[in-house]
Order: sequence, then C-alpha cells, then structure tokens
Amino acid sequence: MANIGIFYGSSSGITRKVAEQLEELFEGSEVIDMEEDYEDADQMLEFDVLLLGSSTWGQGDPQRDWVDALYDIENEEPDFSGKKIALFGAGDGESHGEEFVSALAKLHELFDTLGADFVGFWPTEGYKYEFSAAEKEGKFCGLAIDDINQEDLTQSRVESWAGQVKSELGLV
Ligand SMILES: Cc1cc2nc3c(=O)[nH]c(=O)nc-3n(C[C@H](O)[C@H](O)[C@H](O)COP(=O)(O)O)c2cc1C
Repeated sequence: MANIGIFYGSSSGITRKVAEQLEELFEGSEVIDMEEDYEDADQMLEFDVLLLGSSTWGQGDPQRDWVDALYDIENEEPDFSGKKIALFGAGDGESHGEEFVSALAKLHELFDTLGADFVGFWPTEGYKYEFSAAEKEGKFCGLAIDDINQEDLTQSRVESWAGQVKSELGLV
C-alpha cells in the first residue's frame, strides 16, 4: 500500500467519523486531526497519497481547523506535484444547500495550483442541494457526505468511494 495520510477537520464529529472509517478501509494509513496533530505542510509532503477532509461552514468555507494551515500553504507554495489527493467532507444540503460541501472546492483549487493530481471525483446524483462550488464538470471534486439529511447513506458512500479511490490509485 502507498503511504497514505488522512488529514481532517471536523467540528461536530461527522467528518471525523468518515476519517475513521477511511482509516480502517485504507490499511496502514495515518490519521491527522487538523486541530490536534497538524504541524505544517512538510508533514503532508511525507505522504504519497493524501485524503483531505473538511466540513463546510459559514458560506462555503473550510472547517476552522483548516483555516491557518490553508493560509500558510497558500503563502509558502510548497510543491505538491506527484502527490495524489482525494477530498472528502460533510455538509448539509437542506439547511445550507446554497453552498453544499463548497469547502471541497477551496481545497481543490489550492492544491491544484500547487501541482497535485486529484482522484475520487464523485457523482452528484442522490443529493439534494441548490448549489455547490465543489461541482466540477458535473461531479463533486471529492466525496460529499450529508449525514444530517441522509445519515443512512453515509457508510455505504464511504465504502464505495474508498473502493473507487483505491482503484484509481491502482491499489487493488
Ligand atoms: C453555522 C453553520 C454554517 C454551515 N454552513 C454550511 C455550508 O455553507 N455548506 C454546507 O454544506 N454545510 C454547512 N453547514 C453544515 C455542516 O457542514 C454540517 O453540519 C456538517 O455535518 C458538519 O460536519 P463536521 O461535524 O465534520 O464539522 C453549516 C452548519 C452550521 C451550523
């Protein structure tokens, strides 16, 4: 297995729950809580594959534990070329459907500029929302989780997405 880092920020525990499911599904992966364990971009660059998780807050913003890290990364411009990144994150398509999981777009835009390759784009079918900045060419640019309104689908979505990402990475 490639060396895989799962970095996540989560305020009420939903994205954390997903990160922990992914840790089980990606054998040998390491989980980094952005609040407790994150140091700097060099810590990310130790991994070949990065699964980056953020819920969406405010009006389409990344979860608060990501804010300083993203600011520093944007300013320091570390080189992520050769890195494979897959994004995931929770949102609420009914109460906040005007910017559903839009934080994924912020992560995508930043790491795309820094040279990373993305895997794990995910179909938008089956979700209820008005708009998402995370929709790119008809797909979400990562796994969207709506545990508030579709809790019964969370686990199966995580499992299918993990299978897709492994296949795209050539790990299965
Ligand atoms: C004040 C507030 C703002 C929010 N803004 C958004 C938003 O813009 N887009 C979205 O999809 N979800 C939004 N949400 C919903 C959260 O992303 C959702 O509850 C998510 O499950 C939280 O995940 P976490 O526990 O991993 O942080 C918002 C929730 C609150 C309370």
